[in-house]
Amino acid sequence: MADKTEYRFLGGSGLKVSNICLGTMTFGDWLLPGQCDEAASHAILDRYVELGGNFIDTADVYGEGRSEQIIGSWLEKQQREKFVVATKVRFGKGINGVGLSRHHIMQSIDDSLRRLRTDYVDLYQIHMWDEAVPIEETLSALNDLVRAGKVRYLGASNVKGWQLQKIVELSKSMGLNKWISLQAEYSLLCRGIEWELTDVCRREGIGIIPWSPLRGCARGLLTGKFKREADAPEGTRIEHVTKKGMIFEGVPDFKKVKKDDKTWDILDVLKKVADAHGKTPAQVAIRWLLQKDVVSSVIIGAKTLQQLEDNMGAATGWEITEETMAELDTESQMDAFYPYNMIKRRNKDRVRKNMCQ
Ligand SMILES: NC(=O)c1ccc[n+]([C@@H]2O[C@H](COP(=O)([O-])OP(=O)(O)OC[C@H]3O[C@@H](n4cnc5c(N)ncnc54)[C@H](OP(=O)(O)O)[C@@H]3O)[C@@H](O)[C@H]2O)c1
Repeated sequence: MADKTEYRFLGGSGLKVSNICLGTMTFGDWLLPGQCDEAASHAILDRYVELGGNFIDTADVYGEGRSEQIIGSWLEKQQREKFVVATKVRFGKGINGVGLSRHHIMQSIDDSLRRLRTDYVDLYQIHMWDEAVPIEETLSALNDLVRAGKVRYLGASNVKGWQLQKIVELSKSMGLNKWISLQAEYSLLCRGIEWELTDVCRREGIGIIPWSPLRGCARGLLTGKFKREADAPEGTRIEHVTKKGMIFEGVPDFKKVKKDDKTWDILDVLKKVADAHGKTPAQVAIRWLLQKDVVSSVIIGAKTLQQLEDNMGAATGWEITEETMAELDTESQMDAFYPYNMIKRRNKDRVRKNMCQ
């Protein structure tokens, strides 16, 4: 079934991953209702692999380790080397059980390896910048994990442009392994990384693996299942949050979403493009990301086999035309502010193809 997906190099590295990565934040009974238990999670993993997927993303804190455990009980029945397993370190609790100190990194990798029932992680990512720890300490601890064979490649998540550039420059000057990927929120409804991070990645050979490709500011908003004139559909996270009046990071009150004209204009164009291509809005939203030159693989989230299959339908076999990509780009464009607007305006005639021409 390998023709149902495509494999791409992850950033400038020699590692090949399927262009759809399976996010596993929905595995385990935590977060919100409707999460997948172990059997449902394993069924999603099996189907993902049948469809050609080889790239699985988790984190030490998803379900306080439950997501890693569920992957571990599945992984031990597989041929380990066929899969690229990514996890993360940064969050947690306790005096030394949080952050990017050498102490926490060393402890966290061993805990992750135990839960994942493996002796190495393919991609180890910092889950977010840590203001409290010198980045040199973090870089050198992570490099030691690569040397020890516990980790094969390194990546970042949730950092600013200057922070990623700092990681790149320090890795060079300290003679450490190059980081190969950036995991960041990126979608038609959330294009903030285009201010700086996409430039850093393009110049430094760092592959972007977008998270929440369908959310933007609300779970599954780009699937087209939410209507401006109706309540959020039953069983969705946004419905749960709105009903309970909960405040949950990244899941806004649907009443506020309804008032945002720009969001609904984007959704209208998305629906039009989807209909014209005979695809679903989710597939077009993921495909739009896959056709961005800095994106290596898109991390999808799925609570059901149906959602998984829908999202995997973006992987291969069709393309959005250049003209339609431009239409989607224009419709979802963000308002520029200083200094980005000024630099962009004054560099219009200072364009070059690459650094050799
Ligand atoms: N590094 C980070 O800080 C970070 C942060 C967040 C996520 N991530 C990673 O990215 C992965 C994906 O994030 P995400 O779960 O927010 O991604 P997402 O794809 O934007 O949203 C997934 C949710 O949308 C709904 N959905 C998905 N596909 C659908 C479809 N085809 N039709 C209808 N509804 C659909 C489901 O929720 P409902 O059924 O409830 O609507 C699902 O749980 C995570 O699992 C995790 O690995 C990383």
